[in-house]
Amino acid sequence: MKKRGLLFIGLVAMLAFACSGNSEDDVLGEIEDAVNEDVSDVLNLPASYYNYSNPALPAHFRNGQTANIDNTPGSNPVTDEGATLGRVLFYDRKLSANNTIACASCHLQENGFSDPDQFSTGFEGGLTGRNSMGLSNARYYDNGRFFWDERAATLEDQVLMPIQDGVEMGMTLDELVVKLQSEDYYEILFQDAFGSPEVTSEKISLALSQFVRSMVSYQSPYDEGLIAVGGDEDDDFPNFSAIENRGKDLFFSGRTQCSNCHETATFSGDRARNNGLDAILSDLGVGGANGRAQDNGEFKTGSLRNIALGAPYMHDGRFSTLREVVEFYNSGIQNSPNLDNRLRMGNGGVRRMNLSPQDIDALVAFLETLTDPTFIEDPKFSDPFVDQ
Ligand code: HEC
Ligand code: HEC
Repeated sequence: MKKRGLLFIGLVAMLAFACSGNSEDDVLGEIEDAVNEDVSDVLNLPASYYNYSNPALPAHFRNGQTANIDNTPGSNPVTDEGATLGRVLFYDRKLSANNTIACASCHLQENGFSDPDQFSTGFEGGLTGRNSMGLSNARYYDNGRFFWDERAATLEDQVLMPIQDGVEMGMTLDELVVKLQSEDYYEILFQDAFGSPEVTSEKISLALSQFVRSMVSYQSPYDEGLIAVGGDEDDDFPNFSAIENRGKDLFFSGRTQCSNCHETATFSGDRARNNGLDAILSDLGVGGANGRAQDNGEFKTGSLRNIALGAPYMHDGRFSTLREVVEFYNSGIQNSPNLDNRLRMGNGGVRRMNLSPQDIDALVAFLETLTDPTFIEDPKFSDPFVDQ
């Protein structure tokens, strides 16, 4: 009897010891120490991981329509370690053939991760064919496709394309893997994110996608207002000026149709559409990518979050201000066979919104309420390299 009791206590003690020795916190602590020791002269990383995997999203992101258009695949959920690796890759100029251009060269945090230039400059000084795209809330897009012409079927596919583009970064994936493998800090970051130190293009794709998907903007005045009224965007927001509330009413009205294409709490569409920029569809857009004439001149209806920081506008950056954009929708829509029905009148003619100058001011003021200063200044999205 007595012997058995002692044995039992001994077993419990051994179990407790074994558990504490392997507890996750300790392992994490060791890895973090290693990261700080090895790379602090090159990289400015936090002592413990930033929270990318579980941001405190408001109800209007967690529920319903917005949650339904999240394109995160089950095979690549955002983890704190994976997004941290993705952040370093995103800002690393070694991703280009001559070490001059990073993803962040054309996707600037202060501009909602777009580029203030109409066309972006690649590694040898060449220009991109289209305007850079803002990345706020790229995670939320119903058909999950990427680029203005939606030629990338997934984000995992998309993030490897600029690296191999002859104008943008000019690398082969094999060259890139060899180059990154020789940096000490990547060994630890890959180990931490994926459980083994080897650099592979698949892991690069997964990590960059995680970082891009972590760029969720949910703390704008619009969000504050929506929370204050309990989630009904038709109510006047107490934190909005009269002109901002008027702009909101117009945006969500049948007269403008804005919210029927720029939908959900992320203000993004379900697919590419033709919004009447041109009568002759010379840039074929999705039709050029998939070879179907009925899709000519259709372009991705991306999120309007942080749009006031994202000038110039449209796939070719033709408009320099939001006022020009709204004036275009008001009176400049061009007819073509592919013009979306929402921008036609009942008789098939082109929609004319008859907005007054005050209405135009109000729509611009409303679009400016989608700017999220916390997102723009959040260190977890900033450049981690010490000497860039
Ligand atoms: C030289 C400038 C340049 C570089 C470098 C660059 N991009 Fe881009 N990015 C663009 C342009 C321009 C577009 C739009 C191109 C198009 O649609 O044809 C774009 C589009 C995107 C999109 C599509 C967004 C959407 O909503 O569909 C993503 C995501 C993206 N880039 C991520 C990245 C990542 C990750 C890197 C680094 C591996 C990177 N970019 C490097 C200029 C650049
Ligand atoms: C038929 C669908 C549709 C309607 C209605 C619509 N849009 Fe758009 N919007 C788009 C598409 C598609 C694009 C991208 C077009 C392109 O670049 O070729 C776009 C682009 C934009 C852009 C520029 C985005 C960027 O990243 O450059 C802004 C701003 C904008 N729309 C605001 C509005 C406002 C305000 C209204 C209402 C007055 C409106 N939209 C109505 C489909 C629509």
